[in-house]
Amino acid sequence: MRTQAIVSVLAALALVLASPTPRASHVVHEKRVAPPPQWTRTRRLASNVVLPVRVGLAQRNTDKLEDMLMDIAHPNSANYGKHWSPSRIAATFAPAPESIGTVRGWLEDSGVHSSRIRLSPSRGWIDFNATAQELEELIGAEYHVYTHESGAEHISCDSYSVPKHVQPHIEIITPTLHFDAKVVSSDPPILPGASRNLGQPGVGVTPKTTGRVKGVKAELANCDKMITPDCLRALYNVNYKPIAIHKNSYGIVEYTPQAFLQSDLDMFFTNFSKSLVGTSPTLVSIDGGVVQTQNQSFGFNGESDLDLQYGMALVAPQPVTLYQAGDLPQGASFNNLLDALDKSYCTFEGGDDPNQDGIYPDPLPGGFAGPESCGIVTPANVISTSYASDEADLTPFYATRQCNEYGKLGLMGVTILYSSGDQGVAGNGGRCLNPDGSQTKNGTRFNPLFPAVCPFVTAVGATQVNPNATVNDPESACEQVIFSGGGFSNFFARPKFQEAAVTRFLRDHPPPFTSAQFNTSASRGFPDLSANGANYVIAVDGEFALVFGTSASSPVVGAILTLINDARLAIGKRPIGFINPTIYSDFFNGAFNDITTGGNQGCGTPGFTSAPGWDPVTGLGTPNFPKLLERWLLLP
Ligand SMILES: *[C@@H]1O[C@H](CO)[C@@H](O)[C@H](O)[C@H]1NC(C)=O
Ligand SMILES: *[C@@H]1O[C@H](CO)[C@@H](O)[C@H](O)[C@H]1NC(C)=O
Ligand SMILES: *[C@@H]1O[C@H](CO)[C@@H](O)[C@H](O)[C@H]1NC(C)=O
Ligand SMILES: *[C@@H]1O[C@H](CO)[C@@H](O)[C@H](O)[C@H]1NC(C)=O
Ligand SMILES: *[C@@H]1O[C@H](CO)[C@@H](O)[C@H](O)[C@H]1NC(C)=O
Ligand SMILES: *[C@@H]1O[C@H](CO)[C@@H](O)[C@H](O)[C@H]1NC(C)=O
Repeated sequence: MRTQAIVSVLAALALVLASPTPRASHVVHEKRVAPPPQWTRTRRLASNVVLPVRVGLAQRNTDKLEDMLMDIAHPNSANYGKHWSPSRIAATFAPAPESIGTVRGWLEDSGVHSSRIRLSPSRGWIDFNATAQELEELIGAEYHVYTHESGAEHISCDSYSVPKHVQPHIEIITPTLHFDAKVVSSDPPILPGASRNLGQPGVGVTPKTTGRVKGVKAELANCDKMITPDCLRALYNVNYKPIAIHKNSYGIVEYTPQAFLQSDLDMFFTNFSKSLVGTSPTLVSIDGGVVQTQNQSFGFNGESDLDLQYGMALVAPQPVTLYQAGDLPQGASFNNLLDALDKSYCTFEGGDDPNQDGIYPDPLPGGFAGPESCGIVTPANVISTSYASDEADLTPFYATRQCNEYGKLGLMGVTILYSSGDQGVAGNGGRCLNPDGSQTKNGTRFNPLFPAVCPFVTAVGATQVNPNATVNDPESACEQVIFSGGGFSNFFARPKFQEAAVTRFLRDHPPPFTSAQFNTSASRGFPDLSANGANYVIAVDGEFALVFGTSASSPVVGAILTLINDARLAIGKRPIGFINPTIYSDFFNGAFNDITTGGNQGCGTPGFTSAPGWDPVTGLGTPNFPKLLERWLLLP
């Protein structure tokens, strides 16, 4: 049996283990206070389980990433729009030889023979297999099996340490205490009975529905009760037909088993975008991503149907690319997407961490047999994702490593949009933070979402047409069914581009909260902007239903930015790329419809309140297409 074979390999590994490294010189590198919600520690991990260990090396120049982005994305910069090539990015951020040498030296001195150690082609990771016992001694950790409410299992430790002289040379070690992304079942199982597709990005952030559309006519007079593509065009003054579609691209990300149904798209297009009937998105399958039709329900189809119906209708005839990530048995994580978009992010020879990332080729029955998708596609000019996890589920080092990768895509000229969450100041499932950092429904500290808190993505919040108001009246923050995710990060410092805007908000409209509720020490505020997120008519599973969420807002903003790229590409300019330094600049003053009413309640509070200027509910406001277009056409 395969399981047994593994055990004997382990016994051999254990023999080569030298005496444990003295703990005295070690410093704690990462620790967590509590497992993520719904996970309970159930038992000690058997000491002979083999773990695929990866050491993420410190990259050079990540401390300058924000300045590099300001240099190419701030309208006042002479280098505005001069995006970087992938090779320049790889060369700029590759770890220093000294980091590789120091980590290797530590491992070899600790008894990990050099023949067991591999360096990734991108030089970003050092990799070796070790038994749980060996790893525990190496990094001063204790591994346990954690069980999810659903029965899924995951291995994790609560903290780990490394020698003091090694610490500056590493970012993260996995598998350690990160719960991001997914739970994998593998064959032979690392953990018998581990289940599937859990803990994927987006669990808990699907759009919300009030069910079937009843009795209201979809027309401009009814946009307070029913949003259609025409309502959005009217709200944001979008009157533009793409002309540079062969030069342009717009990508929408979905994670398997979430899938669109062509019959739903056609049903929607028949009513709201006739020219698209019969049209599908262009599928880019990442790590065996498939559009499954086996299981159909709002939970399986709602997000994809929503994102594609609105994304496609608003940019027609511009084709839309669907990044469908993950095969049926395993699904995928944000990291699989990043691997596919940027080769320099891939780990050695397809060796992601099986506790975090889908592993390809997938050994499971029906799994994707191809190699891991690594740098397979040139990223689309704009990429919208309506999935998120709680920042508190991750560690700062882990989130930072991934956030920096979004920054690198920004340097390449890609606009990355993420929905900001649907629970106001609370996290997924309405959970909030306790003083010790654990998450429960009765927690009182606000619980921001990742990746929205990453300064290098553009976070999109939600607004609504007020009851009985028209598309010509100002919108409010969304207060129907969902509340716009917003607030302040506990990990990321406030980026320069939003410093003035956020300071102005805190000074002129001081929120009635203290550091007991949110991070008051100059951290990243989100969202950056917003768009309608209430009462969308979508066709799902053969019916018209109403849906709500920042899940709707993000693809709509993505569509509007795609139209702006079209106009720029048509006159030989480059795509707008990373937009945050641009949209917060003085040059863009007045280019958004400022939202000044409504709040984002959560954690037993009314949440923050919208106010003139930027606010942590609706950001800078909703797009005013003609004004944005005019300004972006003036930029080089
Ligand atoms: C770890 O073990 C797996 C399974 O035997 C093997 O495929 C992989 O190449 C090993 N990794 C390293 C770095 O030796
Ligand atoms: C879709 O079109 C049909 C036929 O015109 C109409 O009866 C139906 O009310 C429309 N549905 C919506 C949600 O507008
Ligand atoms: C569909 O549902 C069945 C029964 O719940 C399940 O066994 C199967 O794995 C599901 N398929 C997908 C693609 O999620
Ligand atoms: C909060 O809820 C948890 C269960 O989720 C419970 O154990 C705890 O006692 C509650 N705390 C307070 C202060 O009510
Ligand atoms: C909207 O108008 C209807 C009918 O005129 C009225 O019954 C309802 O109270 C109004 N709602 C609000 C929030 O003003
Ligand atoms: C507040 O955010 C900063 C980053 O700006 C972080 O270093 C700090 O730990 C955060 N404080 C709390 C209490 O989470």
